[in-house]
Amino acid sequence: MNCERSGRNEFDDHQKLVKKIVHLTDCLNTSNIKAAMSILDQLIPICMELDFNRLRLPEIKLTDRKLYRELKHAKRVSIHARELAKSLACTQEAIKDIEIGGFVHDVGKLIIDELVLYKKDRLSPQEWKTIQGHALSGGKLLSFSKQFARFIPIAEQHHERWDGSGYPKGIKGSKIHYSARLISIVDAFDAMTCNRSYHKCIPPLLAIEEIARCSATQFDPYMAEVFISQISTHQSYNEAFLEKPRIYKQSDG
Ligand SMILES: [Fe+2]
Repeated sequence: MNCERSGRNEFDDHQKLVKKIVHLTDCLNTSNIKAAMSILDQLIPICMELDFNRLRLPEIKLTDRKLYRELKHAKRVSIHARELAKSLACTQEAIKDIEIGGFVHDVGKLIIDELVLYKKDRLSPQEWKTIQGHALSGGKLLSFSKQFARFIPIAEQHHERWDGSGYPKGIKGSKIHYSARLISIVDAFDAMTCNRSYHKCIPPLLAIEEIARCSATQFDPYMAEVFISQISTHQSYNEAFLEKPRIYKQSDG
């Protein structure tokens, strides 16, 4: 990632950032994918560097609700992915790449209509197909980028499963890209521990149990084991990115 080239100062003015987001939204709404990726090329490094606690997120929320939600998810996944990569003793270079990969893994969701993406009710088979399409469309989006094209396997394979029952291609075991296997674990953890339109979050402990239950079926068993031992002892970064309110009540069912 070349943060210097993209010019962090250029984005110091929050209004400029919001303007870029408006432009991105326009490109996505008009299916101008190539132009959208060229804006993302500038936005992704900036957003990765942002301290989300200082960013005026409500303004972005008003500008583009979908982007706001996806940015938060991307940021959390990239941090969890970085920590897991460290625990797996990856090289510094690989850790940085996995962190960026975690940030862009779901980029394909930006071209899905939010009425489908955040639908509360049961999805129709066609809508489910559209959601699943984010893996390949994310790869396509990234193919327009020089600096992010290397993350195509992560976008395309992060929903593959260890036993071959995933999508879009049903790739199995270690044939699934290493970073995609890693991100699938932290992505699932984040999905379970944060509120979504279609489900309430569950406590981290239950999410960890679920990761353990799906080890060797959905997840790479070694990575799952390392994640479980790491997340159980590293609450600091975990708690920092959990959505509020985080308290799970018995009455929530
Ligand atoms: Fe995804």
